[in-house]
Amino acid sequence: MAHNPKDLAEIASVIAHDLKTPITATRGLIEALQALGPLTDKQQDYSERALANLEKMNTLVNRLVEWAWIDADPPLDRQDCDLRGLIHSAVRLMESTAAERSIQIDVQLPDNLGLIQAEHRRLDHVMTNLLSNAVKYNREQGSVTVTADGNDDYVRVSVSDTGAGIAPEHQGRVFERFYRATADEAVRRVEGNGLGLAIVKSVIEQHDGQIWLESAIGQGSTFTFTLPRRADVRERRAVSGEASYSVLDQAEGYDYIVPERANEESDSVDDDIQEPSEIDKSAADRDETTAL
Ligand SMILES: Nc1ncnc2c1ncn2[C@@H]1O[C@H](COP(=O)(O)OP(=O)(O)OP(=O)(O)O)[C@@H](O)[C@H]1O
Ligand SMILES: [Mg+2]
Repeated sequence: MAHNPKDLAEIASVIAHDLKTPITATRGLIEALQALGPLTDKQQDYSERALANLEKMNTLVNRLVEWAWIDADPPLDRQDCDLRGLIHSAVRLMESTAAERSIQIDVQLPDNLGLIQAEHRRLDHVMTNLLSNAVKYNREQGSVTVTADGNDDYVRVSVSDTGAGIAPEHQGRVFERFYRATADEAVRRVEGNGLGLAIVKSVIEQHDGQIWLESAIGQGSTFTFTLPRRADVRERRAVSGEASYSVLDQAEGYDYIVPERANEESDSVDDDIQEPSEIDKSAADRDETTAL
């Protein structure tokens, strides 16, 4: 059994390549069969279901490859990244899926959100996965709201939905690989592999950011992440031993504190999920620290 992520990434890409060829060939054969028509209703139904299953297989293969690639943690290719543009294009891609269930996606971004030094491809996965969850775990005619703000050093993005919410006993585990809150009726009906949020968390941490969730049953969920604007923000703080918390400008509707644990590593998912009470506590601790 290979444990080295780089080996796993290589194995996954070989498997993906080997699976993609028969998937494409089978899709072509079914489409050729449909073109022979006219098919009976049953033949049409079976061929469409076969195509739908192939599509699922294809999506799973793509996801596994992405996961293995991100897990192998190739060096970050940080470039100036237009977060506003990235968010808008991820939303555009999700709009037709959302519209199928009459879900409205509302984007509220400041004009001056600015650039961040990040890897576009990986951040795109973050937005796509969070939006995909916000749509697929939502209710018919629900809504998704994407907001963002930032200061000179950090940006913060939130994706909120009006879905069933995540029960407290699952909240600490949803960022684990292959974890699905399948005990919840609303989740059981939705397709998924339990990989999306593990990828999201890993990408955010590779960029020295943080992610957490707030959720209430029956009301919906909000996933929020913060990212340093530049790689040197974190380094600067680590070297200078600056205060261990930084505060984003208290923009409308927000009063969160962003922990900036320069000298502390956290292995626990729970540590990253901050209930407002804990955030307030962080604020109190910070005030004590800076008052010294
Ligand atoms: N917005 C949300 N609302 C309610 N539950 C959610 C939401 N986002 C995630 N979850 C819960 O967290 C679990 C893990 O999410 P994750 O995105 O990692 O996997 P998934 O959506 O099941 O599959 P995929 O690998 O296709 O993303 C989900 O199965 C679901 O139980
Ligand atoms: Mg998902």
